Amino acid sequence: MTDLSVNFAGVTFKTPVVMASGTFGFGREYAEYFDLSKLGGIAVKGLTLKERLGNPPPRIAETPMGILNSVGLQNPGVDAFITRELPYLKQFDTNIIANISGNTVDEYAEMAEKLSEAGVDMIEVNISCPNVKAGGIAFGTSCDGAAAVTRAVKDRAKVPVMVKLSPNVTDIVSIARAAQNAGADALSLINTLLGMRINIETHRPVLANKTGGLSGPAVFPVALRMVYEVAAAVPLPILGMGGISTGEDAVEMLLAGADMVAVGTAIFNDPLAPIAITAGIKAYLSRKNITSVTELTGRVIRS
Ligand SMILES: Cc1cc2nc3c(=O)[nH]c(=O)nc-3n(C[C@H](O)[C@H](O)[C@H](O)COP(=O)(O)O)c2cc1C
Repeated sequence: MTDLSVNFAGVTFKTPVVMASGTFGFGREYAEYFDLSKLGGIAVKGLTLKERLGNPPPRIAETPMGILNSVGLQNPGVDAFITRELPYLKQFDTNIIANISGNTVDEYAEMAEKLSEAGVDMIEVNISCPNVKAGGIAFGTSCDGAAAVTRAVKDRAKVPVMVKLSPNVTDIVSIARAAQNAGADALSLINTLLGMRINIETHRPVLANKTGGLSGPAVFPVALRMVYEVAAAVPLPILGMGGISTGEDAVEMLLAGADMVAVGTAIFNDPLAPIAITAGIKAYLSRKNITSVTELTGRVIRS
């Protein structure tokens, strides 16, 4: 028997495949395609304390091998999530990860307390969203900022806390260390890479917000390198993501040092991508006679 389960920061995930925040909404649209209980977990759309309408359109631009987005954290706010979306998600046998963004350290802490009392399994602290003017990014690009948010969230959260790192920094390892020293239970990486496209007829940026975050297969080698560097330096469990679209990509990410993987943009091409990726990991393990997925984690670092 191949064992796909992972104990990640004290939480048991039945498979190592999680949906990446912001690409899966609150799951409702995808429940028509497959049983959400087949997922290891769902990181829900990024939540803020109050409702946000997000950035003006156009908010998505295509690029070769990926997309640029500047959605700007459109969401109904944390209270509406707790009353309207969480009960729906709770029907499924999967872990719910609440992804949070705040304008201030106190906002992050308040949301973490509310959400853990409401029964989410884990908090993912987004200190890395490139598409909002204030907040997120300011914390994610400095060690002091990352540490302050992590500490405040850890003080009030009653479930494990995972800190989501930005690739838009010169040294991701130092930010990872700052989060670790401030008490993070786990890390997730990477968020999107800042990018831009220009319409050559109108001479205007394609996105109304001018710049946006690049995701999808184009970012995979960058994500892999960053997971590898962080895993080699910081002993926390890692949720690795960025451009994963096949079972083989997921295996590479695990070998680089991730304990679990998240799938984001791939779902826009194929709503069944997470199911195929899970099956791909399983097939790889049986082909290699490896009994537990946890044995793959970090093999590249140890070899
Ligand atoms: C449309 C869109 C919205 C996103 N919204 C969020 C968000 O709200 N919070 C967050 O932490 N990451 C957000 N992300 C980043 C993804 O969770 C993920 O880190 C990134 O897309 C890389 O993975 P991928 O290439 O598999 O999509 C978003 C990505 C996309 C494409």
